[in-house]
Amino acid sequence: MTTDVPVAPSFDDKATAANALASSLRTPSSRSDLSAIARAYDVGLGGKDHPDRIAFEKLLKIEPRLPVAMSENRAFLGRAVMAASLLDIKQFLNLGSGLPSPDGISVTDVARRYHPDARIVHVDVAELVAVYGRALLARDDNVLVVHEDARDPDRMLKQAAELLDLEEPACIIATAVAHFWADSDDPAGVLRHYMRAFPAGYLILSHACGEEMSPDDFAQLRATYEEAFASIYPRTRAQIVTFLDGLEPLEPGLVEASQWRNDDRQIDVGKAYFLAAVAGFGLYAQKPARSAA
Ligand SMILES: C[S@@+](CC[C@H](N)C(=O)[O-])C[C@H]1O[C@@H](n2cnc3c(N)ncnc32)[C@H](O)[C@@H]1O
Repeated sequence: MTTDVPVAPSFDDKATAANALASSLRTPSSRSDLSAIARAYDVGLGGKDHPDRIAFEKLLKIEPRLPVAMSENRAFLGRAVMAASLLDIKQFLNLGSGLPSPDGISVTDVARRYHPDARIVHVDVAELVAVYGRALLARDDNVLVVHEDARDPDRMLKQAAELLDLEEPACIIATAVAHFWADSDDPAGVLRHYMRAFPAGYLILSHACGEEMSPDDFAQLRATYEEAFASIYPRTRAQIVTFLDGLEPLEPGLVEASQWRNDDRQIDVGKAYFLAAVAGFGLYAQKPARSAA
């Protein structure tokens, strides 16, 4: 895995960078392309003009509500960053940050609303994400965009430490990313490694869960995703809850993403959805979290 983005194109302004991104998304991705996951998610969130839409439509035949579940996952991320910010978290490590969403929810923007000096490190294995993340967030000294495989925490933390203070609390964000990591990658262990690097903080987690699907639909969804984009490992609730072992989940605990602090809105996300939680770690796991947002 390369650490640096080879040649980052330079753009005069955000609009030019956004147009260039839209144009590069018009080239089809393939199963071997590391940007395929980010592209597939962009289609689900409403990105237009993708050749990847054709592959994505095969997924929709199996679970038509998938785009709703995906956008509810992004909306959860916004509410979770808000909650962490209200608990005075000012630094964020965003693992598998993805492309900027068409609906405009951005970790950087939400965190900045509460702490203008918030520091954010975005990490993604997809070069496309890193190149455009850097272009869109250029000239921001408190944002670092890293092109790296987040499954290597030591390597990643070394780079994150260029911006984040490892002596201060931080938020580790792992939304819609750990289900791309096989059991042999030890996803929960990787996340614990990140948490151990800071004295305290919150884990913002969301993870694909397909246990309400029929076994046939589940197998077909996985096979279709894998054929078009990448290997994927949705897990059961019982498996996902182990990611929170030893942590102190904020209310309402581990729930479907649209249900996390969402004023009891009832949203039909279908049967392939994301389970989500925000949980205190380190010093914040040893006592009740300070006032919940
Ligand atoms: C489905 S998107 C989720 C984006 C964002 N976290 C969200 O919840 O809206 C998953 C992202 O994780 C990235 N990703 C997958 N495996 C990764 C890894 N090992 N290291 C870093 N990024 C990874 C993909 O490239 C993609 O951009």
